[in-house]
Amino acid sequence: MQKVRKAVFPVAGLGTRFLPATKASPKEMLPIVDKPLIQYAVEEALEAGITDIIFISSRTKRTVEDHFDKAYELETELAGRGKDKVLELVQSIRPAGVNFIYIRQAEALGLGHAVLCAKPVVGNEPFAVILADDLIDARPAVMRQMADQYNYYQCSVLGVQQVAREETASYGIVDVSPLADSVSRVNAIVEKPKPEVAPSTLGVVGRYILTPRIFHHIEHLKPGAGGELQLTDAIAALLQEQQVLAYAFEGIRYDCGSKLGYLQATVEYAMKHPEVSDEFAAYLKDRFC
Ligand code: UTP
Repeated sequence: MQKVRKAVFPVAGLGTRFLPATKASPKEMLPIVDKPLIQYAVEEALEAGITDIIFISSRTKRTVEDHFDKAYELETELAGRGKDKVLELVQSIRPAGVNFIYIRQAEALGLGHAVLCAKPVVGNEPFAVILADDLIDARPAVMRQMADQYNYYQCSVLGVQQVAREETASYGIVDVSPLADSVSRVNAIVEKPKPEVAPSTLGVVGRYILTPRIFHHIEHLKPGAGGELQLTDAIAALLQEQQVLAYAFEGIRYDCGSKLGYLQATVEYAMKHPEVSDEFAAYLKDRFC
């Protein structure tokens, strides 16, 4: 039985919904209180036992690489000033025994293309894909929950949740048959269907565990609008030969690629943050109640 050891983090998108913040910096570096989205996502992967973190980045977005690199100057300064706690915080971003691997996607040709860029590093094993702009507050971490499902069923698993019918055009939507508690068999998947033709209101959010066969299907996709390769289309092809499951995870998901979702996550995480929660709650009450 193969375990999921590798996770792909595509961070090379244009992030048009969050311009100008995303002009020179990936949206995945936007902080929720004091931690960038990508760090929450990497921590989630580590909790799932993943040891190889593969970033699909682009030439204008080097901050992700820097964030997970050693920061000699900063660390030396902090050590010199005796700021041991912050030093520990900074060093813990890059835990021992974890490999950080960076691949450049030369052109933003879609999520499917971004995932395909990881093929030489992933090889012939199952792997996770995590879209860090979907921040999911869950215990245990969503990828941990999904890895458990993968270990049991040994097939691709998509993280799904119910979405409002008027929002189906923002998601990959699946048609499913129930299999077990929270787990269904995917019969069909459609990219961004209009509400009136959507086969259901079960939307795929940014968590996937995929078998390596997905690469074959991405390679055989016909590029869509703007030359983009859609991961959803490759999953639709994969479905024809392998079982794919939809897993309705337990947790609250924030779409931090949208301004509203980002603001909601910021408020929710601030209200739980040990350093600022009390003062922040008092501020909100004073200002808005
Ligand atoms: P989105 O569909 O959210 O697109 O990408 P986007 O460009 O990042 O954002 P908007 O919609 O224009 O605001 C889903 C994920 O796939 C990555 C993105 O970084 C994001 O994590 N992606 C997308 C790539 O890495 N490369 C691509 O070519 C496209």
